[in-house]
Amino acid sequence: MTIKLGLLGFGTVASGIPFLLEENGDKITAAAKDQIEISKVLVKDEEEKTRLLAAGNDYHFVTDIDDIISDSEIDIVIELMGRIEPAKTFITKALKAGKHVVSANKDLIASHGKELISLAQDKGVAFYYEAAVAGGIPILRTMANSLTSDKVTRILGVLNGTSNFMLTKMVDEGWSYEDALVTAQKLGYAESDPTNDVEGIDAAYKAVILSQFGFGMTIGLEDVTHKGISTISTADVAVAQQLGYVIKLVGAIEETPSGLFAEVSPSFVPKTHPLASVNGVMNAVFVESIGIGQSMYYGPGAGQKPTATSVVADIVRIARHLNDKTIGKPFNEFSREIKLSDLSDVKSRYYFSIETPDKKGQLLQLAEIFSSEDISFEQVLQQKAQGERASVVIITHEMSKTALANVTAKLSEVAEFKVLNTFKVLGE
Ligand code: HSE
Repeated sequence: MTIKLGLLGFGTVASGIPFLLEENGDKITAAAKDQIEISKVLVKDEEEKTRLLAAGNDYHFVTDIDDIISDSEIDIVIELMGRIEPAKTFITKALKAGKHVVSANKDLIASHGKELISLAQDKGVAFYYEAAVAGGIPILRTMANSLTSDKVTRILGVLNGTSNFMLTKMVDEGWSYEDALVTAQKLGYAESDPTNDVEGIDAAYKAVILSQFGFGMTIGLEDVTHKGISTISTADVAVAQQLGYVIKLVGAIEETPSGLFAEVSPSFVPKTHPLASVNGVMNAVFVESIGIGQSMYYGPGAGQKPTATSVVADIVRIARHLNDKTIGKPFNEFSREIKLSDLSDVKSRYYFSIETPDKKGQLLQLAEIFSSEDISFEQVLQQKAQGERASVVIITHEMSKTALANVTAKLSEVAEFKVLNTFKVLGE
């Protein structure tokens, strides 16, 4: 038998699929126990079809989704269009028609995954999306299979290659945020509207999906607080260096005694922490668990061949399940009631950069404010700033999110203090 694929979209990732099917055909066929063949490819319009044919792509291109949905010979639909619509409508149609679906669409899965997973279950078909989180890192199936015996307590991830590339340039070369963004756009990493990458939204989508696999809770995007990298100044980067840290945009998901907490935020990472060495466009997922202890999964988070490798692995799993007559199990079977953490249980050290007048009693007043919230200082650094101002950098001992909100409010009440930035500080 031959397993036939219907591809939705023929962009960068999709065009990596034929490469793998050709270059690694024997191994893929042996694992799938069937030949795998691209049957039809959906493109936007006749113009795109003509362009792709002229470029030597010898596929059966169609412009109407129903040509794929109504084709009873097509077993698996591969959605690589991105964004929410029309991808959501097309996947829904495919699942309703009893087709198995593979997708790399994190935006869609993070926002509407619940209903699509439930539809796939009702229809007894597979819906897999390994490539949706950290494209080339096989993290979801690892969590679903290899970590099934383990209990994950915290996940820390460098989950966005674009912002990690920019931060690496800011840390290693002293570039400003603006210069790093212009270069990321020139190199094609950042889009002309870079909001999703630089404001932590793309990483928050991935945190939503990781929460499902790591903790069994299908939280929503609204449950992941996110803060991006656009406010990081060269002064923050320099002081981090001086104190033995690098700044990374970290997605953190942890289970506290009261429930789950997930956020994406710029974080001071000790130079000795494995995440500190994840540079450029690379991604990593650092898992803390009661069995393995600490493990890190590192690799490319995007790119044609890495992402296509994850997509084809999903296709092979489906083909194999079809052969073994075990098709229809959910990608992730770990499911628990959602319980979100009290903010008083979420604890971390924090970095504060505060501008104050350079005069007597300022440090004393700062100490009184922090102390009133039971926050103690681990490190304090004062430098001369412009004019009659001083810049005070404080690294605190562990404190709760509640204390963070309270101290931030109290600091804002003092007209002479200007809080420039507050970032989380990870432990070793
Ligand atoms: N835009 C993402 C990144 C890649 O920069 O990591 C796909 O999620």
